[in-house]
Amino acid sequence: MEIRGKRILVTGASEGIGAACAREFARRGARLIITARREERLLELARPEDQVIAGDLTLPDFRERLAREAGSVDVLVNNAGAAAFGSALEADEPATRLMFELNLFAPWNLCRLFAPAMKARRSGAIVNISSAAGHVPLPWMAMYSASKSALNSMTSALRAEVAHCGVNVIAVWPGYIRTRFGENRLSGSVPEFMRNPTAVAASAEQCARAVADAVERGASGVFTPFSARLFVYAHRLLPGVVEKELARRQAAIGKMSGQ
Ligand SMILES: NC(=O)c1ccc[n+]([C@@H]2O[C@H](COP(=O)([O-])OP(=O)(O)OC[C@H]3O[C@@H](n4cnc5c(N)ncnc54)[C@H](OP(=O)(O)O)[C@@H]3O)[C@@H](O)[C@H]2O)c1
Repeated sequence: MEIRGKRILVTGASEGIGAACAREFARRGARLIITARREERLLELARPEDQVIAGDLTLPDFRERLAREAGSVDVLVNNAGAAAFGSALEADEPATRLMFELNLFAPWNLCRLFAPAMKARRSGAIVNISSAAGHVPLPWMAMYSASKSALNSMTSALRAEVAHCGVNVIAVWPGYIRTRFGENRLSGSVPEFMRNPTAVAASAEQCARAVADAVERGASGVFTPFSARLFVYAHRLLPGVVEKELARRQAAIGKMSGQ
């Protein structure tokens, strides 16, 4: 799909990957609708022609208002997301339920609100920003991985459901992207080895280019950066080896926190 002239809704556009996606789509000539909770941040980032609709995507009422005010869109980018850090046994339960509302139920709901008009027009694209952690469960963010794994599953099923109606559904699987994702976590603490950008980390701008390219070429799934693909394929090929290394890292986190 050519991006120029299209109406594109980006969620979680006040910073990080979402803000970078909004800038990249704008650079390629899209008309934007941007949303997140912090209206002042969105207004700073928006161009005069962009539509800003601020609110909390964990609230079903806001999701419906967003759909009403945005009207029909050519591309929906479900990017807003956050992590509750912690192992399966230690994760905070209220934060975990809220995370599922944001990472799974909000994108699912927005697909249901926006896809019918795309199907009727026989054109459109939905991008769900998932995670490499949706393929390889990370023990220090166990329930986050579960939320992204569920999002992967819904995304694949939806792609099969709407493919014959001219609507493309794209899953994006970022690896480690340099944003304030760790600082913005819903609960728990970020393991030491994830605190500093590593050689395999990519910028939000690189990720945004991969997202926009995927829309333009009608891709079904994209890893970004390439190291995310290597990590997921290594797990597929040698699950025992990768899981042993993940367990070793999780044991080190447990020792440091005295568990
Ligand atoms: N960074 C990574 O390494 C990485 C890796 C894999 C996948 N991802 C995924 O990529 C997506 C973006 O992550 P990021 O790194 O850009 O995170 P980020 O920098 O923390 O940005 C998150 C965005 O989501 C919005 N948001 C958070 N809670 C919200 C809510 N309740 N309602 C509406 N908007 C909300 C935030 O805006 P407000 O605070 O203004 O609401 C912000 O714009 C997420 O789905 C994440 O799971 C990130």
